Amino acid sequence: MSSATSPWWRDAVIYQVYPRSWADADGDGLGDLPGITSRLPHLVELGVDALWISPFYRSPQRDAGYDVADYRDVDPRFGTLADFDVLIERAHHLGLRLIVDLVPNHSSSDHAWFQQALAAPPGSPERARYIFRDGRGPDGDQPPNNWRSKFGGSAWTRIKEADGAPGQWYLHLFDESQPDFDWSHPEIRAEFEDILRFWLDRGVDGFRIDVAHGMVKTEGYPDAPEKYDLAVDPTASQPMWDQPGVHDIFRSWRRLVDSYDGDRILCAEAWVRPDEALARYVRPDECHHSFNFGYLMTPWRATDQRASITRSLEAVRSVGAVQTWVLSNHDVVRHATRLAVPQSTTSLVGGIGPDDPQPDAELGLRRARAATALMLALPGAAYLYQGEELGLPEATMLPPEARQDPTFWRSDEGDVGRDGCRVPVPWEADRPAFGFNETGATWLPQPEVYGPLAVDRQRGVPGSTLEMYRSLLTLRRDRGLGRGELRWLDGFGPDVVAFVVASAGRTTTVLANIARTPLVLPAGATVLVTSGASDRELPADTTVWLDGELSASQVHVPGV
Ligand code: NOJ
Repeated sequence: MSSATSPWWRDAVIYQVYPRSWADADGDGLGDLPGITSRLPHLVELGVDALWISPFYRSPQRDAGYDVADYRDVDPRFGTLADFDVLIERAHHLGLRLIVDLVPNHSSSDHAWFQQALAAPPGSPERARYIFRDGRGPDGDQPPNNWRSKFGGSAWTRIKEADGAPGQWYLHLFDESQPDFDWSHPEIRAEFEDILRFWLDRGVDGFRIDVAHGMVKTEGYPDAPEKYDLAVDPTASQPMWDQPGVHDIFRSWRRLVDSYDGDRILCAEAWVRPDEALARYVRPDECHHSFNFGYLMTPWRATDQRASITRSLEAVRSVGAVQTWVLSNHDVVRHATRLAVPQSTTSLVGGIGPDDPQPDAELGLRRARAATALMLALPGAAYLYQGEELGLPEATMLPPEARQDPTFWRSDEGDVGRDGCRVPVPWEADRPAFGFNETGATWLPQPEVYGPLAVDRQRGVPGSTLEMYRSLLTLRRDRGLGRGELRWLDGFGPDVVAFVVASAGRTTTVLANIARTPLVLPAGATVLVTSGASDRELPADTTVWLDGELSASQVHVPGV
């Protein structure tokens, strides 16, 4: 599957399974590990290299499992460790690698260490594993600094001491049920190395590292700048993000995973700017991958797409790493919906609710297909999110009483949150819960439109989104696109993204038409795959892959 000179992860396609919503074997409405095992053949059919599973550890599920109470056990809602062993054995047997999610920035407030910290006095060794501080003001009733939780509200919560008196404050960059660990404490470092070993010994092929840019905070916990422009400021100008010390942690973890056989990988979830700062996470002795969120956030405009791809490739080239590409995950509005709304940070992470303008589904799907076809031609590794291969839109009509994401309750901006991208996926249109389980129970209601998009309605149907993904993945592998070199093509006009990828002695031309007018291909062009309906014409929002190099002079480019 790999060799020392060409490790698998350099051009891998990794599929994210959100365990709550992929497949539910016991019918309680929440997905589980036996469900995942039963549906693995779908991933083989699709043609991906690996799956990454979001957290399934023991957890009170206040942030859908990103609040871990025991890092070495499976939550009974998802199954058992024995179920995990069956899952990994089956995945490996099918030729799929398996990556698990590691949540090292914070634990659940139910974690034994946090409970011990609450019971122990200020200044005790138990408190030292987390970030407890006295409050400001004469009565200590003001938080220690002005940091905000990513989910809204203050990042500090005040506790009651054992005697019932108002006490110290603890830091939580996310929900108050997610206290941040103090990574300057050697015990935390040792504990996580041990947790890594626990899962590596069980055979996992790597880790996706949650909040990789947040573990180390600026010493002294100074106030954050009041004015901070997410669009331009380097993330490190905030005292809680992207501090240099995080890189020492990755260096030690890299040594650890490298001590195992089989090219195990680390993938950083780091929302970091600019691209050069993000590239530091993938230096040769740190992580293998870092999610390219800058690309995910790029507007669907040719100039922006070209600039983002160029910047991304240059940034990783400087450190000798591979770039990753991603369009959807469990935290952002699905790209089949997102690309139909004017781009803004709110519509990206804040979700879309019933009171918001409803996006044009047809436009969104057309653009999503074109964007995916563009992405899967790019050199490097790619991450897919469950259901995108079906063209699933965001569930935008979820009623408030169905919502479970803590951001919905905490949000300063009235965001509806991330539930809309987390709805159980449809497998068979005519079965209960569209085949998610046998009982029809689902932890979030599935929109009716998911029925016609079910796997069984698309399998073998020419032109379906599922078949398009399968073709793209087969061609990508056969033509070695992930290992290729990208060269931009000129002359196609400002609204067409045009490039060739040369690899394994073959050249593939990729054209993404983001103009309003169609582009007509020459009669002799060999179309390998198209995101649109016709092989000859490229209407607006269509991407095509062609065999060989096509020059602009062979194409009728309107307006050029
Ligand atoms: C990033 C995860 O992807 C997200 O779902 C979670 O809420 C936060 N980290 C906190 O763990």
